[in-house]
Amino acid sequence: MEMNIEEIVKQVLAEMKGAPAAQETPAAPKAASGEIPKTARVAMLTALKHYDIKEFPIPEVGDDDILVKVEGCGICGTDAHEFKKDPFGLIPVALGHEGTGEIVKMGKNVKTDTAGKPVKVGDKVVTCMIFKDDPEITMYDLNKKNVGGADVYGLLPDDDVHLNGWFSDYILIRGGSFGSTFFNVSDLDLDSRILIEPCAVLIHAVERAKSTGILRFNSRVVVQGCGPIGLICIAILKTMGVQNICAVDGEQKRLDFAKKMGAGMTVNFKDYKGIEALAGAVKDAFGGHPADFAFQCTGSPVAHANIYKFIRNGGGLCELGFFINGGDATINPHFDICSKEITIVGSWVYTLRDYATTFDFLKSAKQIGLPMSELITHRFPLDQINEAHETNLAMAGLKIAIINE
Ligand SMILES: NC(=O)c1ccc[n+]([C@@H]2O[C@H](COP(=O)([O-])OP(=O)(O)OC[C@H]3O[C@@H](n4cnc5c(N)ncnc54)[C@H](O)[C@@H]3O)[C@@H](O)[C@H]2O)c1
Ligand SMILES: [Zn+2]
Repeated sequence: MEMNIEEIVKQVLAEMKGAPAAQETPAAPKAASGEIPKTARVAMLTALKHYDIKEFPIPEVGDDDILVKVEGCGICGTDAHEFKKDPFGLIPVALGHEGTGEIVKMGKNVKTDTAGKPVKVGDKVVTCMIFKDDPEITMYDLNKKNVGGADVYGLLPDDDVHLNGWFSDYILIRGGSFGSTFFNVSDLDLDSRILIEPCAVLIHAVERAKSTGILRFNSRVVVQGCGPIGLICIAILKTMGVQNICAVDGEQKRLDFAKKMGAGMTVNFKDYKGIEALAGAVKDAFGGHPADFAFQCTGSPVAHANIYKFIRNGGGLCELGFFINGGDATINPHFDICSKEITIVGSWVYTLRDYATTFDFLKSAKQIGLPMSELITHRFPLDQINEAHETNLAMAGLKIAIINE
């Protein structure tokens, strides 16, 4: 199985190398060290499954703007959807929202980040949501439960600035009424900074889980699905001090990684026939007890239907696996929810407050020795962005990142 995937990736890479050089790839613009070049390369998705590396002039940096030299950017599931199908109708678009880089120039009005922390040239930053239509929102607006409807850099329509996504050499963070939010994260290493966005998804999910009152230090917790999302979920639970974590997936390599992230037990669903046997295996993993709480971290409707069987009467569930519509799931409301009195929360993206919590989580995870950097399994230079996306689609690794030289 694994061999096959590697074969496919190799084949795809070979095919891409052999492809006609119809699109000239500009070399990285040269400038003396410390100097800002006149132009920047931007990876634009110009057709389905095809990026062109375009070169654009670096625009004027206005009094409220920040010019950032990009260091790296992770490829997200959303980028994969755009690459394959352009569901948001954005082509041509500068993608990349899990990015980070260094401030090289900023306008005279820029003094602090969104959290009020001072910023200067040389600081490392990440962007968060763009609140164009909601300028009143603040970091500590606790009534704003979810910022799923807001814009982000890396999913903006193209315009005459062009430097709107993190798969590029430079990005322009626009100030004033544009509504950008950004954070000074100079105290985090590059890998941690690239992982901020997906980690914020799980900080939010765990906050939602805590709102049920069921998730406690001594809870027995199931995490179903060990892609980046499930693995980060385990890392956060471990960092919080939750000790009884059981990971469920069908890929042994991912289950092994789940152990390194803090899962004490693992269950490979492919070893069991039928949900009764699978639920029995989860119960056995907890020494004969069903789970107190479960996190659903797959995009599979069947997995959603299954997860109720792992949870005790009066237990809780956080469903976060469906960032996009994955279809309908069949459950039995009487057995699965009513008679068991399950408390369910849904979770979608994050708030600005969750972003700030994420920075602290990443530091703590490092301190207790969790292998967060190993989540980034593949690193590609910008001019190999098509290969990077094909590798992502082949599910050959976990997090694939573009790292600029
Ligand atoms: N709530 C949010 O805001 C949010 C944000 C990002 C991603 N997501 C969602 O989270 C999900 C997971 O993301 P990811 O990047 O980790 O994806 P992924 O595809 O890398 O991981 C999913 C994992 O689930 C496993 N799996 C599939 N069916 C299973 C089953 N029946 N039982 C147990 N395991 C099963 C797969 O083997 C895989 O390892 C996606 O569906 C995505 O849409 C949600
Ligand atoms: Zn993302």
